[in-house]
Amino acid sequence: MKDTMSTRRHFLGATAAGLAAPLLAQSTRHSANDHVQVALIGAGGMGSGDAASSLQVGGVKLVAVSDIYQGRLTHAKEAWGNDVFTTRDYREVLARPDIDAVIIATPDHWHQQISMDAMNAGKDVYCEKPMVQRIEDGKAVVDTAQKTGRILQVGSQRVSSVVYQKARELMQAGAIGQLNMIEAWWDRNSAIGAWQYSIPPDATPENIDWDRFLGRAPKVPFEPIRLFRWRNYRDYGTGVAGDLFVHLFSGMHFVTGAIGPQRVYATGGLRYWKDGRDVPDVLLGLYDYAATDKHPAFNLALRVNFVSGAGEDSGFRFVGSEGILTIGNGVTVSKTPRESEPGYTIDTFPKATQEQFLKEYHDKYPPRKAIADSIRPDSDEKFLPPRGYNDHLDHHRNFIAAVRSRKPVIEDAVFGFRAAGPALLSNVSYFEKRVCKWDPQTMTMG
Ligand SMILES: NC(=O)c1ccc[n+]([C@@H]2O[C@H](COP(=O)([O-])OP(=O)(O)OC[C@H]3O[C@@H](n4cnc5c(N)ncnc54)[C@H](O)[C@@H]3O)[C@@H](O)[C@H]2O)c1
Repeated sequence: MKDTMSTRRHFLGATAAGLAAPLLAQSTRHSANDHVQVALIGAGGMGSGDAASSLQVGGVKLVAVSDIYQGRLTHAKEAWGNDVFTTRDYREVLARPDIDAVIIATPDHWHQQISMDAMNAGKDVYCEKPMVQRIEDGKAVVDTAQKTGRILQVGSQRVSSVVYQKARELMQAGAIGQLNMIEAWWDRNSAIGAWQYSIPPDATPENIDWDRFLGRAPKVPFEPIRLFRWRNYRDYGTGVAGDLFVHLFSGMHFVTGAIGPQRVYATGGLRYWKDGRDVPDVLLGLYDYAATDKHPAFNLALRVNFVSGAGEDSGFRFVGSEGILTIGNGVTVSKTPRESEPGYTIDTFPKATQEQFLKEYHDKYPPRKAIADSIRPDSDEKFLPPRGYNDHLDHHRNFIAAVRSRKPVIEDAVFGFRAAGPALLSNVSYFEKRVCKWDPQTMTMG
């Protein structure tokens, strides 16, 4: 990236003075042999996975890491080398002219602010899902991406998966006839599955920048559980809807070409993991999708259950008039052709009526002896991805390729917000006990 260093410095000076970024954003800053210089903001579980996938893409260098917990900065140097610049203040990362792109893997309540600060500082952004914590946050991210011309990829890796691509191709080819409903679920039954993550013994006020963790959330005294298990609190997370429904929305929108429901209703409760969390551990959502030029009208039913006694499982069922497409490890299309005659239910009619009915029925459907050819092909067609296939790596490949080429990513801010919107509305519906309206075109609440 040497060739553009001076431009970057100049540009960052300009943004520091409060100017917008669009000019630099239009330019192509990466030649084929250049490394893309990446920084990680939020170096916990997913951030570490994101950094690993990004490095695996090739042609990527991790140059800086920001986290508000010192232990994660120490771990970053252990994992990626002493040369990696570390800081508790992400703005120091954004001020570095040698950084092209940032991966944002903080708790949800920081996504909007850091994404916008990063784009305004001239950085491309890979931001973990959900793109925003609150519906009100979404438009500003969409607008900033547009205004600055920066690349923004949201981190729902399913949309880059060959499995979901196969499902999309099959749907487009009419594999299940006319779609009428979709079910998707995500069941868990373990403490870690239910977000009871480990709290390190060195979680002290000295090692944690508590105020920077809280950010825009209400000021509360130091309490490490709120940081290390942030998903359990509405102040920082987005409940199971923002954490997991959002993956189901993004995967399903990718497969069907849908952009969002018009009506949202969610119900559920906190049934088992009563550890002080203020979000449900069982959530059911119902969504009405209107017809578009991509799909007929259909209904969607989503479920997350963290107390599923039979163990962990997740998947999709796309139900159509001619078959069902299931996504699990791979894609399965199951078909049972309709019978060639409708059959009858005449046993309780008077005898003479039965006889008359049967005569007319057999005139219409003459009795035929079963022959081998009359056996109906009840079929299950399965498509499995190659062994060890990693959609997360493909999602980062797509991002890094876009950073180089300036071509659109697969999951931009609009796609990301259209997945996050109905997921976040599920929380509104659950907590306010009401049906919510959503305009998927304008991405606004009704
Ligand atoms: N794509 C996926 O499949 C997937 C899977 C898991 C998590 N995620 C998403 O990734 C994000 C992170 O989740 P996680 O499980 O890694 O959580 P985590 O708690 O393990 O990591 C979050 C990190 O962010 C740090 N942090 C908090 N505030 C910060 C700030 N202001 N500046 C810098 N660092 C800050 C925390 O100290 C922590 O190290 C979430 O948005 C989550 O929804 C995505």
